[in-house]
Amino acid sequence: MMSRLKQSSSSPCFRCLLLIMFLFSCSKTNCARKVATTAPSEVRALNSIFQKWDTQAPKSNLWNTTGDPCSGLALSQLDSVFEDGDNNPAIRCDCTFDNNTVCHITRLRVYALNKVGQIPEELLDLPYLEFLKIDQNFFSGPLPSFIGKMSKLGLLSIAHNAFSGPIPKELGNLKELYLLSFGSNDFSGTLPPELGNLHKLQELYIDSCGLGGEIPETFANLENLETVWASDVAFTGKIPDFIGNNWTKLMSLRFEGNSFEGLIPSSFANLTSLTSLRIGGIYDGSSSSLDFIRNLKNLTDLVLRNVLLTGVFPSHITELQSLQKLDLSFNSLAGQVPSALFNMRNLENLFLGNNSLSGAFPMQKGEKLQTM
Ligand SMILES: *[C@@H]1O[C@H](CO)[C@@H](O)[C@H](O)[C@H]1NC(C)=O
Ligand SMILES: *[C@@H]1O[C@H](CO)[C@@H](O)[C@H](O)[C@H]1NC(C)=O
Ligand SMILES: *[C@@H]1O[C@H](CO)[C@@H](O)[C@H](O)[C@H]1NC(C)=O
Ligand SMILES: *[C@@H]1O[C@H](CO)[C@@H](O)[C@H](O)[C@H]1NC(C)=O
Ligand SMILES: *[C@@H]1O[C@H](CO)[C@@H](O)[C@H](O)[C@H]1NC(C)=O
Ligand SMILES: *[C@@H]1O[C@H](CO)[C@@H](O)[C@H](O)[C@H]1NC(C)=O
Repeated sequence: MMSRLKQSSSSPCFRCLLLIMFLFSCSKTNCARKVATTAPSEVRALNSIFQKWDTQAPKSNLWNTTGDPCSGLALSQLDSVFEDGDNNPAIRCDCTFDNNTVCHITRLRVYALNKVGQIPEELLDLPYLEFLKIDQNFFSGPLPSFIGKMSKLGLLSIAHNAFSGPIPKELGNLKELYLLSFGSNDFSGTLPPELGNLHKLQELYIDSCGLGGEIPETFANLENLETVWASDVAFTGKIPDFIGNNWTKLMSLRFEGNSFEGLIPSSFANLTSLTSLRIGGIYDGSSSSLDFIRNLKNLTDLVLRNVLLTGVFPSHITELQSLQKLDLSFNSLAGQVPSALFNMRNLENLFLGNNSLSGAFPMQKGEKLQTM
């Protein structure tokens, strides 16, 4: 009985579920499929893009590039349908234009399909595109400056490809962007100051993107950032003070393996929404103090590895009761580790190696502490 139940909910029938979900979403959102057709210029553009990328609509007619592409699952407005693994490549259409007679393509995803090729200019003929995700392929060539004309884009995600050349300054024209991801590519040069115009940006993922240089001052304007993952980028100079003063909504920051020098700014004390802070590798400059973490009560994940921390081990760390992971290894912390640290309610992983700490381990440790 158990195994039958299991089988009936597994992959082959998931497609039926998708179709049911689609019908449900369709009846709710007035997708007048009978009368609405895709704008012909967009059909041509999509077909041309897919031809260049040697790509077809997914098998089993989930949607269609032989007939009208705004068909089947492409009409659903549910993220669970658009993001489903079987529905890949995927498009989403909005068919409410011109009194429900015209469909425009609003989303395009070609994810992890081993595709090769470049970013084609035909994308400009999808003027309603809000979402472009082509991560984890073998796409190459530049990120062309015409990308700056795709003015409705809210999400641009091209990570894990082989793109090269500079990041075009025109990217700063995409005022609707809330998520930008171009990590794990072979870009060169520095972050264009124009990206500081992206006021709506909430998520920035640029780990291992190939860039270097200083973080532009204009990034002080990016007040809505919640997530910034920028590890393994050859940033130079200091970690900017403005991060602590202006990025006050920040919840997750990763700066591991950069080339920063100097201190961790004391302004970081303002970042009280942080749940995850990872900084690793500050090589030059004076020593940082840990005073700034006192207020960061929501931290679950704190990694400050090899960042020139000195002084006596700060006992106030035990007040960060949400901490699950604490890594302060490869610093110059001295003194005794408070025994309360080993008994913190949520702490699972503790790394303090390569410091100058002294004292004995306590007799007891917290239940959750697994790795030390
Ligand atoms: C795809 O188009 C063909 C006509 O070319 C049509 O018969 C079929 O039903 C379409 N599939 C979907 C999912 O709409
Ligand atoms: C929109 O379509 C409906 C029925 O399809 C029709 O009754 C209505 O007059 C149309 N409105 C306009 C502005 O064309
Ligand atoms: C950034 O913070 C500084 C104060 O530290 C302030 O003068 C400036 O206006 C802020 N910039 C933005 C865009 O909020
Ligand atoms: C927090 O930010 C404000 C500006 O918004 C600044 O004046 C203050 O010095 C910052 N706090 C710390 C501890 O740096
Ligand atoms: C800290 O977390 C709690 C619970 O998730 C939340 O209610 C609170 O707003 C957070 N504090 C900040 C400053 O984000
Ligand atoms: C870390 O500590 C170990 C043992 O004390 C030592 O052998 C090693 O050289 C240290 N590594 C660094 C990078 O300081």
